[in-house]
Amino acid sequence: MSGKLASEYSAWQKLQQIYTSEKDQLVLKDLFASDPARFSKFSKEYVSSSNPANTFLLDYSKNLVTEPILKTLLDLVREAGVEEYRDKMFAGEHINTSEDRAVLHVALRGFGKLNTKEPGVDEVGDVLKHIQEFTDAVRDGSWKGYTGKTINTIVNIGIGGSDLGPVMVTEALKNYSKRDLTAHFVSNIDGTHLAETVRACDPERTLFIIASKTFTTQETITNAESAKEWFLQTAKDKAHVAKHFVALSTNEKAVTGFGISKENMFPFWDWVGGRYSLWSAIGLSIALVIGFNNFQELLQGANDMDKHFRETPLENNLPVLLAVIGLWYNDFYGAQTHALLPYDQYLHKFADYFQQGDMESNGKFVTKGGERVNYQTGPIIWGAAGTNGQHSFYQLLHQGTKLVPTDFLAPATTHNPIRNSLHHRILLSNFFAQPEALAFGKTEEQVRQEVGSKASEALVKSKVFEGNRPSNSIIFPLLTPATLGSLIALYEHKIFTQGVIWGINSFDQMGVELGKVLAKNILAQLEKPDDVKGHDSSTTGLIHYYQKYRKE
Ligand code: F6P
Repeated sequence: MSGKLASEYSAWQKLQQIYTSEKDQLVLKDLFASDPARFSKFSKEYVSSSNPANTFLLDYSKNLVTEPILKTLLDLVREAGVEEYRDKMFAGEHINTSEDRAVLHVALRGFGKLNTKEPGVDEVGDVLKHIQEFTDAVRDGSWKGYTGKTINTIVNIGIGGSDLGPVMVTEALKNYSKRDLTAHFVSNIDGTHLAETVRACDPERTLFIIASKTFTTQETITNAESAKEWFLQTAKDKAHVAKHFVALSTNEKAVTGFGISKENMFPFWDWVGGRYSLWSAIGLSIALVIGFNNFQELLQGANDMDKHFRETPLENNLPVLLAVIGLWYNDFYGAQTHALLPYDQYLHKFADYFQQGDMESNGKFVTKGGERVNYQTGPIIWGAAGTNGQHSFYQLLHQGTKLVPTDFLAPATTHNPIRNSLHHRILLSNFFAQPEALAFGKTEEQVRQEVGSKASEALVKSKVFEGNRPSNSIIFPLLTPATLGSLIALYEHKIFTQGVIWGINSFDQMGVELGKVLAKNILAQLEKPDDVKGHDSSTTGLIHYYQKYRKE
């Protein structure tokens, strides 16, 4: 990151010229026809350094790129100083400049091997040990509730990064879960979320995990207080809280103030960003659900991807390749969104997770130097598990007027081979077919042959698929903790690389503050109409309408 706007880099300007002069020739059908080796040139197999079973293939051949374009995109990476910046991150430099913090989620999965003096890094192993002891005790039944019964339900109360990672990973690795331990996640301040969750819980056998980096987040603290109230309705004695509430936080004072003792607190540090925190104590619910060994495998998988990101030349560096391909569409083709489409039901929360991961990181219009950018930054991330999406929004992907770059992900083997893997073969046939259909479409000529000469012109036109819609495909042998760890880290480093090129700070989130402040002010004015002051007529009118009709 050089302090320049990305558009000032010479590689950026060259890419602009290439786009203007070559975009009409960038036709996937022609690119494939003219180069039989296109797939082998534009696909790479990742094999993790510590575990050959943790492997995947990234096929990026169905993208609107050529070798010279990729080379220029990688020149941009060099010019923007991504490699230097990456090394600064791993060295613990305070690259989160607005908050003057290091960015060291990589240290959480570094197994003590990271060379940095940042306070807290040397405590990572102790916290992991505490996580191991605690999860073992809950899982083997030696941790007892206040009436001597074992825990059969955990409720993680957190929001944003203190919720989405644990939700996504526990769903993704459900196959590895302890089936007699039920996990719930309460995030929304809407009382319905907590009320509907505790309805299914037995206070004598439920463990609440209060997950909040700051321990000041209004939603989480309110939900936690209400959960405590619910628990005490049955347990009565506050001393019993110790057996049923633990905290994951950086804020010891607030945790003890809430009534959770220091022994039941799992700490982490300010250099762990909320949306990068599933690797920290925030992952306690993950460890409880899948067991500590599997949690460690998840960390190892991420650590192996960190090594790949740090050591692999840019030409073969998978997060970097994903980053530049995404940037090519975002900044030159004007694509507004990017879809994540896992063909794996276990990954049904993957896009939700990276909505925060990407959009809270790179949804910024000001550079680290305070300049307004004159280009697009982070894309809108969205998606759903295949094949559900095919029956909802794929119509627009195939025939809409917008360009939506997509990533398809799928396991070669399913954990649930029902009917001799028939379901999985059908699923995968769709995983292969969709990128093919997007890329190559169906011509008017093909349609005419299909529908015959009697068909109306309108019908013919409506059945044409223009194609040339780009995608990446990622296929891996089996969704394991290690593979999931690598895939998450792959996308984290993609986001990092793009953020450095755009010159923004991917590690703060100033944009979430204004709404919080306004809501606090409004909360104090909700009592009576006369209290509603200082707003525009629309906001005032809405609050007055609520005051007229509320029943409390
Ligand atoms: O939405 C803003 C945010 O600060 C996220 O970055 C964070 O993940 C979330 O709130 C929760 O914060 P905390 O863990 O401090 O409760």
